[in-house]
Amino acid sequence: MKGLILSGGKGTRLYPITFNRAKQLVPVANKPVLFRVIEAIREAGIDDIGIVIGDTGDEIRQAVGQGERWGVKITYIPQEAPLGLAHAVKISHNFLGDERFVMFLGDNVIQGGISDLIRQFADSAWNSQVVLTPVDQPQHYGVADLDEEGRIRRLVEKPRNPPSNLALVGIYMFDYHIFRAVKAIKPSWRGELEITDAIQWLVEQGLAVHPYIHRGWWIDTGKPIDMLEANNRVLAELSHGNEGYIDRDSKVDHLVTVEQGAEIINSVVRGPAIIGEHARIVNSYVGPFTSIYHHTLVENSEIEHSIVLDHSRIVDVPSRIEDSIIGREVEVTYSPIKPKAFKMTLGDHSRVGLL
Ligand code: G1P
Repeated sequence: MKGLILSGGKGTRLYPITFNRAKQLVPVANKPVLFRVIEAIREAGIDDIGIVIGDTGDEIRQAVGQGERWGVKITYIPQEAPLGLAHAVKISHNFLGDERFVMFLGDNVIQGGISDLIRQFADSAWNSQVVLTPVDQPQHYGVADLDEEGRIRRLVEKPRNPPSNLALVGIYMFDYHIFRAVKAIKPSWRGELEITDAIQWLVEQGLAVHPYIHRGWWIDTGKPIDMLEANNRVLAELSHGNEGYIDRDSKVDHLVTVEQGAEIINSVVRGPAIIGEHARIVNSYVGPFTSIYHHTLVENSEIEHSIVLDHSRIVDVPSRIEDSIIGREVEVTYSPIKPKAFKMTLGDHSRVGLL
């Protein structure tokens, strides 16, 4: 089997964090979401992976390279515009050939990986397998209508009146029939070739589309709140350890990862949390569900339930920072201007003064 990762899109809902960078490269627990996707595919035994790229393609090529780091072979497939997931499949036909493949959206994070799913599909005679999971607001997703025996009756993209609460998760498995489907369908109201319509076409042709119901967590990291949620989930499941330096005056619990070259001086860090390479935590408190990326300084400040990207400085902030995503090379320092509560989504290179 081959793997296909979709990594185009503009990430507008994560602006300004993604104003000048690919949303798939925003780290969750100090690792870009896209890297987690590559690892999940490799763990399932697939080492030939295509990545569909758009405007942010150069940055993705630079970060992922040829895939040596993971022992996989990466092929880049440029998509001239975000014309839909089914369009991405269409332009990947040369790369995929007639092999069975798994398609994974590069900004999705799923509990437990996909190895079992892939094994199930590889050994089956199904033409496609889709992953479904119950969600609160199905109208924002592709939605499945199942019959009494649990077979797919119908799939609809972002229905106003959802027939169920089962959303299509951004992980799909196909055989070569999908190439006929993506040729047969027409663009939707949003001008995209929808993968949901292509799978519905397979169902209408009487081909076997198997629904797999995922019971763990799954997050499409489209919005800042989803990024924080994904960060919580991954931090809670990491196996933690210390490879950095913790001085004798600090208190760091066993649910904290301290990466190489990081220093924790006279501080309290409560997990689950991760402190990145060459980050410095000085006279500070870092609370649960916080990821501090590499080369960041937190000094005389308190922060929890947040993500801080690389090369940022948080110094002398008098109130606790919570529920925040702070970009790269951001500076948050003391300033006498009110208010006292901090709730921020700051872009790369921002400078903010806080009371
Ligand atoms: C896409 C699919 C949708 C699916 C969702 C999962 O939506 O079209 O069917 O439920 O991914 O993340 P989009 O992110 O393009 O709105």
